Amino acid sequence: MIAVWAQVCYVVAAVCFILALKGLSSPKTARRGNLVGAFGALLAVVVTFIAYDIDNLGWILLAVAFGAVGGAMGARRVAMTAMPQLVALFNGVGGGAAALVALLELSEPARAGITRPAGFGDDGWFAYSPLAESGGHTESEILRMVDLLSTGTLTATAFTVLIGAVSFSGSTVTFLKLQELMTGRPITFPGGPIVFGAVLVAAVGLGLWAVATGSVTLAIILALVGLLAGVLLVLPVGGADVPIVISLLNAFTGLAVAAGGYVLENALLLVAGTLVGASGTILTRAMAHAMGRSVSSILFGAFKGGSTAGGGEASDRPVRSAGPDDVAIMLAYARKVIVVPGYGLAVAQAQHTIRELVDLLEKRGVEVGYAIHPVAGRMPGHMNVLLAEANIPYEQLLEMDTANGQLRTADVALVVGANDVVNPAARTSPGSPIYGMPILDADHAGAIVFLKRSMRPGFAGIENELLFDPKTTLLFGDAKASLTALVSALKSL
Ligand code: TAP
Repeated sequence: MIAVWAQVCYVVAAVCFILALKGLSSPKTARRGNLVGAFGALLAVVVTFIAYDIDNLGWILLAVAFGAVGGAMGARRVAMTAMPQLVALFNGVGGGAAALVALLELSEPARAGITRPAGFGDDGWFAYSPLAESGGHTESEILRMVDLLSTGTLTATAFTVLIGAVSFSGSTVTFLKLQELMTGRPITFPGGPIVFGAVLVAAVGLGLWAVATGSVTLAIILALVGLLAGVLLVLPVGGADVPIVISLLNAFTGLAVAAGGYVLENALLLVAGTLVGASGTILTRAMAHAMGRSVSSILFGAFKGGSTAGGGEASDRPVRSAGPDDVAIMLAYARKVIVVPGYGLAVAQAQHTIRELVDLLEKRGVEVGYAIHPVAGRMPGHMNVLLAEANIPYEQLLEMDTANGQLRTADVALVVGANDVVNPAARTSPGSPIYGMPILDADHAGAIVFLKRSMRPGFAGIENELLFDPKTTLLFGDAKASLTALVSALKSL
């Protein structure tokens, strides 16, 4: 039994995790929330090292040092646009670790010679543990190992092994897709749903068998089937749906860790895992809702041909383009301009330049706001974080409903590196992969200006009819270069 002071520290750490989530719910408190959560995690790790009698301490500390250095270097170096794949990688490692810990726990009674009697009954354990008694284990150790083989704990173990393995392999495939180490398009094959269904049935059957017998070998086979299930789950998901699946797998990892907490009799793991599971589920639903999709259509849409495809060819239809001087005049003499930032703004790292432009416009008396689409960019809150870097006042960021009201009365919608989030196909084309996604109504503004480099489509890989609208003007070029040119043109007016 862990000491009372350590349990109190675990409660403090759990409260830190809850406060961290609360802090992360607003950009103003997010940084503090993150620090509070990190403190809770540090406290939990330090207390665990002090409160438990740990074997192989040297090896563990070496692994911690490797993990800490690798994690810190990865997190410092990663570009903001590559954050989703970093999250996928960290998440997968968490799921894999939970599965490995559960397997190790399960192997402990087997190594001590304690086996589970056939069937689901939990009585008569000591009759099956003659070797344990002669193996130099204390009575409480034997009782703990016997408990590891009870039906409840074995069910939690099988769950952790299966879900942790699914999360590990699924997250690895999403990482490969987002890092473009493999195609980002949905990968399907004939009979895919049947194979996936068969793997799921096999996983459930193996899980029940492993619970009935407490067999380590069966648990290892269950982990391998889980790895296969994770790959099959994610392969048919493509394009814009991949980050949503990362969030879903994040929820899976949380559940695996929570079940692992039950196996290890560690209340903190249970709380932390449940928080991750719940917040991951809420985030998955929120992202799916923002894209106008259901979670099932994201996971299984490709089998019916509905998943967002990614890729896509550049159109060669004629459009109206203009130079920075003409666009600067349009903006300078407008009454109201609504900026629609998107992924391209992050790629160009033009957040400071857009602020400079907006400051100049405001000095001229132009009313300016930023329309924020919940899935603009490549991760939740991407535009909020990006614009906060340039100290753009939070009050100027308009949520979708407010922004759409403002766009109706705006003279110019300045679309900077955004595409899918203003694509009217989401409203008008039932066959389109983004059909049903709520969009920013840039087309309702008096005029629309797109800053982009080419006629290539956005993440969903589909043409944007708004680019060909008579009200639309394109200023081609990297967003930062175009915005810099606009700033100098405005200054010389
Ligand atoms: P996208 O539709 O991906 O469009 C980005 C646009 O930026 C493209 O038109 C691209 O055109 C342009 N661009 C790229 N680099 C640029 C640069 N350096 N300078 C200027 N323009 C540049 O972006 P969006 O409108 O923000 O929509 C986000 C998409 O990602 C949605 O489909 C959404 O569902 C998906 N998604 C979002 C999330 C979250 S949670 N935010 C997660 C996963 C997927 P050029 O190549 O011609 O320049």
